[in-house]
Amino acid sequence: MNKKFSVVIAGGGSTYTPEIILMLLDNIDKLPLRCIKLYDNDEDRQNKLAKACEILVKEKDPSIAFIATTDPAVAYTDVDFCLAHIRVGKLAMREKDEKISLKHGVVGQETCGPGGIAYGMRSIAGVLENIDYMEKYSPDCWMLNYSNPASIVAEATRRLRPHARIINICDMPIGLENSYAQILGKRDRKELDIRYFGLNHFGWYTSIKDKEGNELLPKLIQHQLQFGNCPEHIEDGNYTDASWRDTAMKVKDLVKLDPTTTPNSYLQYYLYGDDMVAHADPNYTRANQVMDGREKRVFGECERIAKAGTAKGTSLQIGIHANFIVDLATALAFNTHERMLLIVENNGAIENFDKDAMVEIPCIVGKDGYEPLSIGKIPTFQKGLMEQQVAVEKLVVDAWIEHSYLKLWQALTLSKTVPSANVAKELLDDLIDANKGYWPELK
Ligand code: NAD
Ligand code: G6P
Ligand code: MN
Repeated sequence: MNKKFSVVIAGGGSTYTPEIILMLLDNIDKLPLRCIKLYDNDEDRQNKLAKACEILVKEKDPSIAFIATTDPAVAYTDVDFCLAHIRVGKLAMREKDEKISLKHGVVGQETCGPGGIAYGMRSIAGVLENIDYMEKYSPDCWMLNYSNPASIVAEATRRLRPHARIINICDMPIGLENSYAQILGKRDRKELDIRYFGLNHFGWYTSIKDKEGNELLPKLIQHQLQFGNCPEHIEDGNYTDASWRDTAMKVKDLVKLDPTTTPNSYLQYYLYGDDMVAHADPNYTRANQVMDGREKRVFGECERIAKAGTAKGTSLQIGIHANFIVDLATALAFNTHERMLLIVENNGAIENFDKDAMVEIPCIVGKDGYEPLSIGKIPTFQKGLMEQQVAVEKLVVDAWIEHSYLKLWQALTLSKTVPSANVAKELLDDLIDANKGYWPELK
């Protein structure tokens, strides 16, 4: 088959766009392309990256058409895949989410706790709007969505666009499995066969085997009790920055709670929220680090490329983590039956858990979409935590649909990161103020 595919990147102005383009270009033998489009609703921001992206494409393969647009009709007409990574409110609103939470002594995080709830209330409309464009202009297109907060977005699309061709996915398991592979002396995460269950940014590995079928989880956990997800010699770790190194190290404490599974490191925000708050600087949060770090670096390099008229010698790197996007698109395009962790409706896969909860579990992906694998029963500790968190996510979507102040207060109160209904109410009132124009008006 010599079909070539057309791809639109929604959220074209994202800091991740150049590395995703490089990753697509590095894989054109697997997923042949005829067109790459960037789409954003912020023209100025997207323009800061677009010229450099065009140069990257043209220098690799001039036969691939390149378009950057803010017109949904242009963006979504004749596309096979939409790679969606929008951030409604951009990093400026992420900063507010994090700082307002910390002001109330609560975890200030992009996708967890009040920050994730506030971000969810902003994201739903943006993602639905993009689904609607896709369905209007390219009804056979698949949206591979990794816009956050993925759990809340997934629950909203399950309810409000039940037939949409959207697949919600997260790169965190890829990052975790890469570190497990390194710790276990493997070259690649694909040398490991894993079992995992949970919610997005809220799950556990129950098995990690080599290709001969030997169980490696006990060995991994022994290592984690001493070094977390860091290699024995920390300098061998491939950390984008200190905050990710600290997260990898904190796994040391997380594994103590259940030494028969190994957790997604995002659980640190729920299980050690007090440590996270104590460790945070309420005046300089992760959003500030990203704006001063990744954003400056990526936009600066794109400006340099555009001025130079060439990407030769660029410091931009292929998004290695982002490989899962090509794996997923290839599985849909070529029916590869790749086994991947996706965020899907439970529907009995986890036997003793809500049928209509959006869970993160292994699925087999082929040309008709995905088929979840059966997980069986999960233990009481994980089940209890997940039930509480799923209820939070469902209440956020209820609040968005019904414009309900009460439901959002309940969501915040129920979040494991928030100590009481009093604190939840104070947080809610501050978040409403900060999110004017982004949230529906709550009654
Ligand atoms: P960013 O702010 O740099 O870029 C996001 C872009 O989205 C901006 O250019 C913004 O203008 C655009 N945008 C906002 N609303 C839009 C809309 N309605 N339609 C079209 N474009 C819109 O953000 P970033 O730091 O690069 O992150 C991008 C997104 O990817 C975030 O949601 C982030 O959480 C997510 N992400 C997810 C994963 C995952 O594992 N699921 C991994 C990495 C990043
Ligand atoms: C991981 C998660 C994403 C999240 C990102 C934040 O990749 O899977 O969901 O958006 O981390 O990283 P940052 O560097 O922006 O804090
Ligand atoms: Mn994620």
